[in-house]
Formats: sequence, structure tokens, C-alpha cells
Amino acid sequence: MMSPMTANTPTLYLNGEYVDAAAATVSVEDRGFLFADACYEVTAIFDGTLIALDRHLARLQRGLDTLRIEFDTSTLVPVHHELIARNGLGSIPRGSVYVHVTRGVAPRSHAFPIDSTPTVLVRAQSIPGPSAAAIESGTRAITHPDTRWGRVDVKTTGLLPNVLAQQAAIDAGVDDVILHRDGAVTEGSRTNVFGVIDRAIVTAAADRRILAGVTRSIVLELADAAGHPVAERDWTLDELRMADEVVMTSTTAGVRPVVEIDGRPVGSGSRGPITTSLQDAYAAFVDDIVGVDRH
Ligand code: PDD
Repeated sequence: MMSPMTANTPTLYLNGEYVDAAAATVSVEDRGFLFADACYEVTAIFDGTLIALDRHLARLQRGLDTLRIEFDTSTLVPVHHELIARNGLGSIPRGSVYVHVTRGVAPRSHAFPIDSTPTVLVRAQSIPGPSAAAIESGTRAITHPDTRWGRVDVKTTGLLPNVLAQQAAIDAGVDDVILHRDGAVTEGSRTNVFGVIDRAIVTAAADRRILAGVTRSIVLELADAAGHPVAERDWTLDELRMADEVVMTSTTAGVRPVVEIDGRPVGSGSRGPITTSLQDAYAAFVDDIVGVDRH
């Protein structure tokens, strides 16, 4: 029988075992803790169904391979499903699964340890979905220098510049930040950013200067299928400021209009038609997956 202390704590997966979150511990010599020598991933749950898990695990695999952390991410597919079942999340409206894989535990020394075993943490939780108001009225952002390292295509847990940038937004009284490097718009602290310029959808190319978001790639495919011109290229802060519409995407935020940047309205200052059409297409994409999962 569960003790009253642990009755409501979630079950998570740590190093091959399903454990009570309150009892889960990681070594102080874990390289994830000491060096952020680790990758992570976040997959959305809509109506109890995982969205695009294959794309998320493929990105995690690429990141781990780049860092030369030996781990097969396909072993995590059943873990995702088991955690949803064990935590009673099979019909929740919105949730997410967080995966964190480090190079493992070893005495602190910069070079790779000879034989560490990766530490693997997976956690599933329910999250509040965005309100209809947030989807329609959108988000306000400030621009901020992108001070991150040169391989942000790898989704490492070394997120301090992202944390500081996001805090700068909060300190400025807005919700989000749009990063720029050498005059080019890169992305948000935790989102990808698109502009609508002369009716074309423009976003930074998926090179080493941005994280190639899963939502970004889905939205680009949907935009293309709907006949919107799409350009993956460098775009400048001036273009951002002149854009008719600006959109942010991520697993947790979905597709979100940006209606104000640095205190000035974007376009008309309210959600634009291309943003709405991308939101509708993304909602239909998710509905299809959820519908298939239910049959
Ligand atoms: N963030 N860019 C950055 C820097 C991100 O951290 C994220 C995701 C994205 C969007 O990627 P995707 O569409 O695959 O979620 C872009 C996750 C959600 C996070 O850190 O919680």
C-alpha cells in the first residue's frame, strides 16, 4: 500500500526503473549536473496521445550521437507509453513528456570518462493548455542578443543563456523573447520564430544557429501543403520589425501569434490571417493523430 506521503507523487522512469518521483535521486557526480553534458527532449500529449514522438526521438538520437553519448533512443518509446498509463494521463487534454539523457556519473574531469553509463530520466505530466485567449490574442516579446554557443542545433540542457533571455522578457513585463545574432533573427528562448513578409513565411534556416523545432518542421510542411510560399533563410531585425505577422512555435506553446515586439505592434497589432491558417492547419494535424490513436 502507498504511504500517504507518496500517494500523489508521480511515477517517473530513472535508469531502467519506474520509481516514485519523491524517492528518485541522481548522483552529485553526474555529468549532467556538473557540465550540462546532456541532451533533453519534450514531446506533447494531446488528449492522452503523444504527438510526433518519432521526430522527437530522432532529434534526441542525433544530439546524443553528436555528443558521442551512446544510447539508443528507440528504447524510450515503450517508456513514454508506460509513464502515461502509470500516471493516469491517458485521456488528459494536454501534457508533456520530458526526457533527459546525460553522459552519466564519473569523477569530475573534463574529457569523456572511459566507461560511464548514461543517466536516463523520463517524466510525464499534465500541463495547462493555452487558453483560447492566448491562442487568439497572442504574445508580446522583446528582442535580445543571442549569446548561446555555436551548436544550438543540439538540444543540450546547457540553457543558461535561454534562461537569462527569458528572464529579461519577464523583467520587461512581456512573455517572450526573440533572439538575434549578427543582425539575424535566430529564434526564441524556447520557440522558433517566423515572419510573414510580402505574404511569404520566412524563418531562419535549420543550421547550427537554431534548434530545428519539431513544431517548426510540421508547420513548414503544412504551410507548403497549403500553398503558402516559404523561405528558410537569414532574416534581419529590420525585416522582423516590418513583418506583417510574426509567429512562434513550440511543442508546449503550439502555434502562437506575436502581436507586439519591443513595445511596437506587429502589423495591425492583432492575429493575422496567415497565422490563423497555420494554427488551424496545426490543430487539424494534431486532431488526425489523436483520431487515429483512438481507433
Ligand atoms: N523548447 N527553440 C528552442 C531554443 C527550444 O528550446 C525549443 C523547444 C524550440 C521548439 O522546438 P519544438 O517545436 O521541437 O518544441 C525551439 C522546449 C519545448 C523546452 O525547452 O521546453
